[in-house]
Amino acid sequence: MIDSRIYLDHAATTPLAEAVSQAMAPWLTQDFGNPSSTHLEGRKARAAIDSAREAVATSLGVLFGEVIFTSGGTEAANLAILGSAMAGLGGERNKILIGAAEHHCVLHLIKPLAKLGYEIALIPCDSRSRIQPSALVECIDEATLLVSVMHANNETGVVNPISELSVIAHRHGALFHTDAVQTYLTLPTDLDALGADMVSVSAHKVNGPKGIGALAFRSGIKLDPILFGGGQEREMRGGTENVAGIIGFGTAVGLNREPSLRKAARNQFVAVLEKMQVPLGLTVGVGDDVLPSHAHFVLQKSSAEVALIKLDRAGVSCSSGAACSSGSLEPSHVLLAVGFDEARANRGLRFTFGDSTTLEEATEAARRISRVLDPSQWGADE
Ligand SMILES: Cc1ncc(COP(=O)(O)O)c(C=O)c1O
Repeated sequence: MIDSRIYLDHAATTPLAEAVSQAMAPWLTQDFGNPSSTHLEGRKARAAIDSAREAVATSLGVLFGEVIFTSGGTEAANLAILGSAMAGLGGERNKILIGAAEHHCVLHLIKPLAKLGYEIALIPCDSRSRIQPSALVECIDEATLLVSVMHANNETGVVNPISELSVIAHRHGALFHTDAVQTYLTLPTDLDALGADMVSVSAHKVNGPKGIGALAFRSGIKLDPILFGGGQEREMRGGTENVAGIIGFGTAVGLNREPSLRKAARNQFVAVLEKMQVPLGLTVGVGDDVLPSHAHFVLQKSSAEVALIKLDRAGVSCSSGAACSSGSLEPSHVLLAVGFDEARANRGLRFTFGDSTTLEEATEAARRISRVLDPSQWGADE
């Protein structure tokens, strides 16, 4: 019997691995050199950054010089999209296409892109939050500069057909960016496998530290910096590097991962809920195109907010969907994009599993849910 808290919000953030914290520690204390300094302390920091960059580059199938470290997934996606837009200013292409259910770090670029004079169109998703290739074909034309579609949706866990989408973008001469924050080190995210020109990733979703991420890009694409300063990151991102963060990121890349453990815990959780005859409203199901970590439900009556409070009190940490903006009472923009009305878009509940989630925790979490939430609150999609 587990009496401690059960953390089922790994899509929001993951625990820092012990090996990562140990690797970072010296860079927060005695090894404080600035990597731009030419003396011994600086050179030591530079060498450590170089080996972390090598690890991150290899994980994304790019060359050493094709990785720009950023402050996280948000900045990486901002750099990919705003940087391409800045570089394309005054050119013949004035249109940017964005998936309708993207993370806010992409969707909230619509205003600044419009200020730069770009026409933005949202590529509609289907009822499972998936961007179908046919939807992109409908929107794209020869004026399209860039297409940005996330690899997997952070709320539903549904994986998009990125390699098919990138072929369509390239056929029309457009660049292709994918936000792979949720899939990095779980599914193949190297640029060749995805056919992408730019891929954004973040360390804190893979047992690394918060505040560090990367944009991997293909040499030769046109990309302007969006942060200016001392010429760091090959003039692409000014500012003294987050040395400890970068070292932590490089270490996290090398950790052993077992997505099958996540999947086993998730499946066990769903199976126990089913066995207890909690009528499930699994939004998109547990198919091959759903991440092994995700189980996403829609409550029939209660708002997710009330359920979250009850579950938190019962020691189960989960999320109402858009974890990065949780705390906000806004209906889920992802559920609105799939066609739910506002009331239903307020009732999404997301449980996300990590490699360290045990089967016992999965079972106990399901039991607590059925105890705490009146089963009549759970329902299949009306
Ligand atoms: C799909 C997706 N993109 C981007 C981000 C933002 O990453 P970061 O928190 O590193 O800025 C997140 C974080 O939740 C995410 O889930």
